[in-house]
Amino acid sequence: MPDISPVFFGAPMLPDPDHLAALMAEALAAGWLTNGGTLHMRFERAITENQALGDVASLTSSGTMALTLALMLGDLPRGAEVITSPISFAATTQAIAGLGLVPVFADVDPETLTLCPGAVEAAITPRTAAILPVHFLGVPCDVAALEVLASRHNLWLVYDSAHAFGSSIGGVPIGNFGDASAFSLHATKLLHTAEGGFVVTRAGKADSLRRMRNFGLEQGRVTGVGLNGKMSELHAAMGLALLPSLFSEVVARKALRQVYDRSLAKLPGLRLHTGGESVGGGTSYYSLRLAPSLRARLHLALAEEGIFARDQFPFYVVLALLGRTPRSSLSRAGPPLRPVLRLRFFACRCMAGLRLRLPTGLPRQSLPFAWPHQRIHGNEIDFRI
Ligand SMILES: Cc1ncc(COP(=O)(O)O)c(C=O)c1O
Repeated sequence: MPDISPVFFGAPMLPDPDHLAALMAEALAAGWLTNGGTLHMRFERAITENQALGDVASLTSSGTMALTLALMLGDLPRGAEVITSPISFAATTQAIAGLGLVPVFADVDPETLTLCPGAVEAAITPRTAAILPVHFLGVPCDVAALEVLASRHNLWLVYDSAHAFGSSIGGVPIGNFGDASAFSLHATKLLHTAEGGFVVTRAGKADSLRRMRNFGLEQGRVTGVGLNGKMSELHAAMGLALLPSLFSEVVARKALRQVYDRSLAKLPGLRLHTGGESVGGGTSYYSLRLAPSLRARLHLALAEEGIFARDQFPFYVVLALLGRTPRSSLSRAGPPLRPVLRLRFFACRCMAGLRLRLPTGLPRQSLPFAWPHQRIHGNEIDFRI
């Protein structure tokens, strides 16, 4: 029986309610609601095992908080410049400005819509202290070139990975690049905790980050700057309750991305938004670039099918309205790009009855989540929906 319920952009993945209730009951029985309870520890460990490849993931209260803490970890001087992408959600630049740092925009690559390393290099001044690129809509940045720039100019390199859970480069999970990588676990993301986020840091930095997310406290004493960036037990319960279906959801979405790419590649007026063949595409959104004349028609046609997509506009229009961006950095960002239409994945409807064998890109022992309709052969999965 096909699933014919409407598909809304940003509708959250929902857990088995009994599983969520059991986890919440565990927190209530323990009488421990926040400050590193057992659910928090379990979820943080699961994220670390799944995403951090030997590095450490630290949970936070939101993706914006993850960005803020990842920038704070760089100990950047007040008033320093941070080069970032003009095409993102407001939180990227708000995190910079909120810390008294100055956002400077560099242009994006027209294919990937992620920061262009050449444009970043041209924007570097003696006041530049950091680069904050965005894996926009899950398409990875040119991490190799950005890494070279950051180390040549001694810049703190933090990635905004809010859209990029499940993306990878050459089989390496996306969080493992730069000095730190900040993720959102907001309800619209693939894996979520209703509100939440996490930061993947490189070896040795997690203790500092975790101190800062808890008011700078260490053994009850304030030892430095900090704020309240912790995740509660109830939010961690939501994340844990979603884990059992996460792996199959990622595999389904990646397969669906391939189906969409194949089906849409040759249509006139459309341009796919991909990161090339060597990288795993994002799992939160599927995005297309359209001739403006097609946008309204496509919206209508999709709505008739019960699919409600959303436009993504260049971010600096929003920023200019907030009145926070210096004119000079706006003009450096170049002319507005065409809007991007984002479609949410709708795995159930499109994939019904499909049977696929997919390479996982992961060693077998690191496949963390069992799923009833999957059979694993070496590094491949026989997958049925
Ligand atoms: C690119 C980007 N960065 C940061 C954030 C902030 O995440 P959160 O809503 O969890 O604070 C978002 C939110 O969607 C985002 O799209």
